[in-house]
Amino acid sequence: MKRLITTLILSVMTIGMTVAAEPIKLNAPSKKRGATLQEALWNRKTVREWSSKELSKQDLSDLLWASVGQNRPDGKRTAPTAMNRQEVKVYVLTDEAAYLYDAKAHMLQPLTDGDYRMGCRGNQAPVDLVVVVDEEWRWSGVDSGYVAQNIYLFCAANGMGTVSCGMGEDAKLRKVLKLDEKQAFVLHNPVGYLK
Ligand SMILES: Cc1cc2nc3c(=O)[nH]c(=O)nc-3n(C[C@H](O)[C@H](O)[C@H](O)COP(=O)(O)O)c2cc1C
Repeated sequence: MKRLITTLILSVMTIGMTVAAEPIKLNAPSKKRGATLQEALWNRKTVREWSSKELSKQDLSDLLWASVGQNRPDGKRTAPTAMNRQEVKVYVLTDEAAYLYDAKAHMLQPLTDGDYRMGCRGNQAPVDLVVVVDEEWRWSGVDSGYVAQNIYLFCAANGMGTVSCGMGEDAKLRKVLKLDEKQAFVLHNPVGYLK
């Protein structure tokens, strides 16, 4: 009887922790799209107001792949990291849930239900990409910067806009993204189509 009660309590607790959002298998990253790199560099700028239109699945898939996706069979990434530490992770906040971008599987793994997007200066974007490092070390800021620049350039080449924001609700993000003590929030990039 005691064991049954314990099992029931544990089941209720587990159900309470279950995330309703499902894993999302992203579309295969496109190889040919967008403006040229030179045009993207000419267009790159900070954008702080966005259309409320949802990103298409292909655009979200390509955006995430561009940020920190795998581009070689050996698992290396679109963004370099000192000593190939690959300590930079991208989390995705939508109006429905918070997800981890799993670069290896090219999938979104749900973490917490709810809308935790931060936007910028009171403006909301359809998605917010949060850049986190597994641990802070000499080059983690540099490594994160490459990821943020990939996001900027992808946006500039594809009719989208972003802003790197250094401000974030650290304690709240830590809980929502289920970060461990070593992990650190670096910045977040709200992304949406241009208005
Ligand atoms: C690390 C970093 C943090 C930033 N933080 C903020 C921020 O908290 N809020 C904001 O509105 N813009 C932020 N920005 C955007 C800068 O203000 C912007 O890049 C700068 O004004 C130059 O404009 P540009 O990106 O259009 O060249 C940040 C940029 C960087 C690189």
